[in-house]
Amino acid sequence: MALFNKKGNVNYISAKESRRISKENRRITNELEKQRNRKNVPREEYITQMRDPNNVVEFDDLHTYFFTDIGVVKSVDGVSFDIPLGKTVGVVGESGCGKSVTSLSLMQLLQRPQGQIVKGSIRFNTGTEVYDIAKTPTYEMQKLRGNMVSMIFQEPMTSLNPVFKIGTQLDEVIELHNKGMSKEEVKARSIEMLEMVGIANSKGVYNMYPHELSGGMRQRVMIAMGLACNPRLIIADEPTTALDVTIQAQILDLLRNLKDKINSSIMLITHDLGVIAEMADYIVVMYAGRIVEKGTVHDIFKNPCHPYTIGLMNSKPVVGKKVDRLYSIPGKVPNPINMPNYCYFRDRCDKCIKACEGPYPKEVNVSPTHAVSCYLFHDKKGAIDDGR
Ligand SMILES: Nc1ncnc2c1ncn2[C@@H]1O[C@H](COP(=O)(O)OP(=O)(O)O)[C@@H](O)[C@H]1O
Ligand code: SF4
Ligand SMILES: [Mg+2]
Repeated sequence: MALFNKKGNVNYISAKESRRISKENRRITNELEKQRNRKNVPREEYITQMRDPNNVVEFDDLHTYFFTDIGVVKSVDGVSFDIPLGKTVGVVGESGCGKSVTSLSLMQLLQRPQGQIVKGSIRFNTGTEVYDIAKTPTYEMQKLRGNMVSMIFQEPMTSLNPVFKIGTQLDEVIELHNKGMSKEEVKARSIEMLEMVGIANSKGVYNMYPHELSGGMRQRVMIAMGLACNPRLIIADEPTTALDVTIQAQILDLLRNLKDKINSSIMLITHDLGVIAEMADYIVVMYAGRIVEKGTVHDIFKNPCHPYTIGLMNSKPVVGKKVDRLYSIPGKVPNPINMPNYCYFRDRCDKCIKACEGPYPKEVNVSPTHAVSCYLFHDKKGAIDDGR
């Protein structure tokens, strides 16, 4: 879709062009919406099989676009990775690289009709059945969401209702997932959940309003709510970004301890590799809507390959290391409309070689568990071209 006007100005777009784009967008999104809002969709259309039954989620070539009046934003553009049962997968990358859109696609919570999954699958394993979320109709998704997946957001104040007491809000969630529990049982369970997330004065907090709690306490309450349904997957999207450093560490400790107790898988989204280091089993590094590197936590920390990953590591402060100024990767994430067909990181990369003038680099394996999309590894011995 043309974003450049006749004068070649990237930022300017005429009213006529904008109208044409909106019309075209409406045509595409109406078609997709019609497809999604059908009633009585045959189950064969969305019930599928996992590639590996030990995974809870398999993202497979996911493409999620936003059809905006200035062009198509390719927020997620061909992303594939797995979330194994009981493991934590950290998704890392600077702001705007598509982390949240990936998780919102999984929850079918994209801002519609602009936001649409246009290609690929998201296979979700409930334990008894496998749903392809990309094709699951809205009425089925409502049953899955909440029962199977919980989300913990960045700013807990916006997710808690300010006019109801903590206890009332927690009771509501617990009641919803435990039909048939008596009022007393529900209350006892709510207080138990508050204790589990490390709230000492649980009976007192039960009777408080959200504004009476600190940011860290509110985040603990949100986590308690998230756990109330014993989800198979917890999505924590920048769970500690709004908190100060010591509270951040406590919340991460809490998540880590809970992980062992509840045996859920966690998708931990953050722009901070430091947060992921101690939490994750696997790491996915995203840049401008694509995965540039993925592997086990050991692969990524012991042998970071992509210049972007290395840049992220260098921009993390290290205790005991004296630096005059914190390193930051020069330049910024490119605009995901009209991306050029070459390495998206090229304009910021200080390790460019001749090959980087070519098309976007294919993903190659540097070990069976470790893959990277960068020309520096294309001719390396042991690098296996996956043919993408
Ligand atoms: N509702 C929306 N409409 C248009 N573009 C959007 C919308 N939501 C997200 N985007 C774009 O998608 C890209 C990825 O966003 P996001 O997934 O939120 O990034 P982050 O990695 O910071 O979570 C960004 O360029 C953002 O501007
Ligand atoms: S492909 Fe080239 S430009 Fe891109 S990250 Fe690798 S070295 Fe840098
Ligand atoms: Mg985000």
